[in-house]
Amino acid sequence: MNKLCLVGLLVGLASQTTLAATATSAPQQTPLQAKNAFIDKLMKQMTLDEKIGQLRLISISREMPQPKILEEIAAGRIGSTFNSITRAENRPLQEAAVAKSRLKIPMFFAYDVVHGHRTIFPISLGLAASWDMDAIALSGRISAKEAAADGIDMTFAPMVDISRDPRWGRSSEGFGEDTYLVSRISEVMVHAFQAQSPAEKTSLMAAVKHFALYGAVEGGRDYNSVDMSPTRMYQDYLPPYRAGLDAGAGGVMVALNSINGVPASANTWLMHDLLRKEWGFKGVTISDHGAIGELIKHGVAKDEREAAKLAIKAGVDLSMNDEAYGEHLPELVKSGEVSMKEIDNAVREVLGAKWDMGLFADPYRRIGVAAEDPADTYSDDRLHRAEARDVARKTLVLLKNQNDTLPLKKQGTIAVIGGLAQSKLDMLGSWSAAGRPNQSVTLYEGLTNALGDQAKLLYARGANVSDKENVLTYLNFIEKEVEVDPRPAQEMIDEAVKTAEQADVVVAVVGESRGMSHESASRSSLDIPGRQRDLIKALKATGKPLVLVLMNGRPLALGDELQEADAVLETWFPGTEGGNAVADVLFGDYNPSGKLPMTFPRSIGQLPQYYAHMNTGRPYTPGKPGNYTSQYFEEPVQGPLFPFGYGLSYTHFDVSDIKLSSDKLERKGKLSASVTVKNTGKVAGATVVQLYLHDVAASVSQPVKALKGFQKVDLQPGQEQVVTFTLTENDLKLYNQALKHVAEAGEFQVMIGLDSADVKEARFNLL
Ligand code: NOJ
Repeated sequence: MNKLCLVGLLVGLASQTTLAATATSAPQQTPLQAKNAFIDKLMKQMTLDEKIGQLRLISISREMPQPKILEEIAAGRIGSTFNSITRAENRPLQEAAVAKSRLKIPMFFAYDVVHGHRTIFPISLGLAASWDMDAIALSGRISAKEAAADGIDMTFAPMVDISRDPRWGRSSEGFGEDTYLVSRISEVMVHAFQAQSPAEKTSLMAAVKHFALYGAVEGGRDYNSVDMSPTRMYQDYLPPYRAGLDAGAGGVMVALNSINGVPASANTWLMHDLLRKEWGFKGVTISDHGAIGELIKHGVAKDEREAAKLAIKAGVDLSMNDEAYGEHLPELVKSGEVSMKEIDNAVREVLGAKWDMGLFADPYRRIGVAAEDPADTYSDDRLHRAEARDVARKTLVLLKNQNDTLPLKKQGTIAVIGGLAQSKLDMLGSWSAAGRPNQSVTLYEGLTNALGDQAKLLYARGANVSDKENVLTYLNFIEKEVEVDPRPAQEMIDEAVKTAEQADVVVAVVGESRGMSHESASRSSLDIPGRQRDLIKALKATGKPLVLVLMNGRPLALGDELQEADAVLETWFPGTEGGNAVADVLFGDYNPSGKLPMTFPRSIGQLPQYYAHMNTGRPYTPGKPGNYTSQYFEEPVQGPLFPFGYGLSYTHFDVSDIKLSSDKLERKGKLSASVTVKNTGKVAGATVVQLYLHDVAASVSQPVKALKGFQKVDLQPGQEQVVTFTLTENDLKLYNQALKHVAEAGEFQVMIGLDSADVKEARFNLL
């Protein structure tokens, strides 16, 4: 936990009354002194086994049946659990701790509340596409309230790994490729989860993950190694974690990958030098699931005993669902290989987190009393549907709209094609916490709701998301998630074509099933999977206007289908109210304003493809092709299919040239860069004005442009607005070869536009 929030937290806890009689704090103590005194006193009473028990975070799953868990908790051998999601489930666990264990140390309960708890908001990548910090904050606050009302104290979120390789299935779970945007969201999410303090009844403690660099796994293959230069780490990949910690996150989840050869869970540099010493983090570190034991497969520990030793010494406080700490720490301490101080440091952080969550003051703070449990945990009344719909509409990105095909008119006959249009489960996306598929609104339902009897809807399934045995086995591994229509593919396509022929317009809902964009779901292709591309071709051949509604958790390399479609709307996995939100946009009841948080490549061979790349000594110059430039010669057009920050609207916006307040910026001074944005179309709309900077000649090559600010503006037809960004020396800083964060004198390019590619430009000098 870092400075700012710590102050708020401690003020909030000043009146915390403690459970144990030993805990009464002297009135003259500051809240921090009171916390430390309480923990010191408690730790003096703890046996080694009780201390090690506090370092164990166990999954509520079939592997350990409840009676065994209760027994372990009562014996002081488990200090926290995750994956139980109702007050009724958590209450007996808490009772076992506070009524039966010797020292009555409360448990805490954690869960992956990533993009919603009972109400599911769009997947994180979708949330990022809104570029709307209020909407994102609202999703986080509601998630916290709903989860806290179910007796949960901590969330394993936000996930702020920068991801620049869409093959990585966990791109869906993060906020995209850009350091600045993800850092802003990281801070917003932590504030939303924790509110004024994680001790509040409606707050969750946030655990920022996955520390660190998990999004840079080689080849986008999950769990793979990461090798990265220090300047790239500091400049591009580390800031989002830091932003979450500076916002006060109480926890950090350690990544599964290795970093330059040393697995994060055994990485002393990462946890001691960077996290604790350099950044001053004062909260709890948590291993990822089973990660300590995995040190053996990583090849840095010969057995579990050595793995436990490496992890505790490197600074992993809590061991997530891993036997290594429980089994081996007692002996490691006795043999002197692990010191009591090392154990105590970890225990202190765990107890500190419990204090910060308000659990010593009231272990039932979030669980409450049984008499007040919701009569029906799954009741629709507990959902926040209106908010979910509004947030979801903001995340939709219009990628193409030839001849104003959209918005659709609420009349005539509309053919809806594609199994995803009827899939309640896929609407929720991966990591959908306690969300229930039967409560989600499919796209077909959303269109039905919007139309009433004004137009006729037809439906055909058209294609499966995959017909490949190995893919289906993979996707249905844990639970049956993908239902396959057993008919021959051509028969399904023919049926869809017949359906389309009877309609005035065709809406094809195509893309991925939710399990395709998930943990461990790395892809070696970015195509729309299965026979869906053949389906799109066949639908195009009907000559009917064709709207593609994409559902996917990563950028896709759209090929012919982009040419074939008249309009394309990217909807990610839009959550509980997704169907209504998408219908709002398709019919123009809401004007889309989402912007891509990740570049869409033309082909998988172009990866990695991200906007903030270096220039090289031989950059490709559009219009001046030639040999010996940095390009893929087989690609007729270089660069991305859709750039970062891209997204259309049902109206048009003009951006003026940039006006600078000066062409010089003094150290400690300010410089403003302004543009006038005008809505030149016929309907009201919102867009995101984006500012990028480039240091023209620096001591270390800098990205061709890097986002440093954005503002969302809402304009009526004909309305214009001056949008001003204020720049200071701080915005111009880079990490030099000595890893010092400095702004170097010289010329800077400032670029402003409505996406990262189409920008106006001006220049100034930093003195
Ligand atoms: C493994 C995932 O990597 C992590 O993100 C998640 O929080 C844990 N499992 C717990 O579910």
